[in-house]
Amino acid sequence: MALNMTRSLLFSIVLLVFACGSANSSNDTMEADRSSGRAVYNMNCALCHGRDGRAGINGAKDLTASTLTKEEMQAIVRNGRGVMAPYKNVLTAKEIDAVVEHVRTLGKAK
Ligand code: HEC
Repeated sequence: MALNMTRSLLFSIVLLVFACGSANSSNDTMEADRSSGRAVYNMNCALCHGRDGRAGINGAKDLTASTLTKEEMQAIVRNGRGVMAPYKNVLTAKEIDAVVEHVRTLGKAK
């Protein structure tokens, strides 16, 4: 009897910890996703550049091979170039910063 109670108590604790843990982590993920460069990238850029930056669809440049500076990349994302549309009315300045940060990690992620 005592053993059973201990067991069910332990089980409840495990459940509680698990429930709290997953609730927290999904909140964190949503929070991070909204502003995270990767999320912005996957939604807006992967279409042409691919998730790894190399797809080159519609003549898109291989982002992993880009030699542009951060400022130049931000300008292209803001104002567009060629087939690539300007994003200054689509993304906030913060999102553009974040997405360029993400693009800059793609080359190094090989
Ligand atoms: C409609 C397809 C398309 C989408 C969507 C797109 N791009 Fe592009 N991107 C291109 C094309 C095409 C070029 C080459 C433009 C040129 O030089 O004529 C390019 C060029 C670039 C360059 C310059 C690379 C270099 O070295 O010259 C960067 C940086 C870039 N894109 C980032 C992004 C980011 C960040 C996003 C998302 C916010 C994005 N692109 C969305 C098509 C796209």
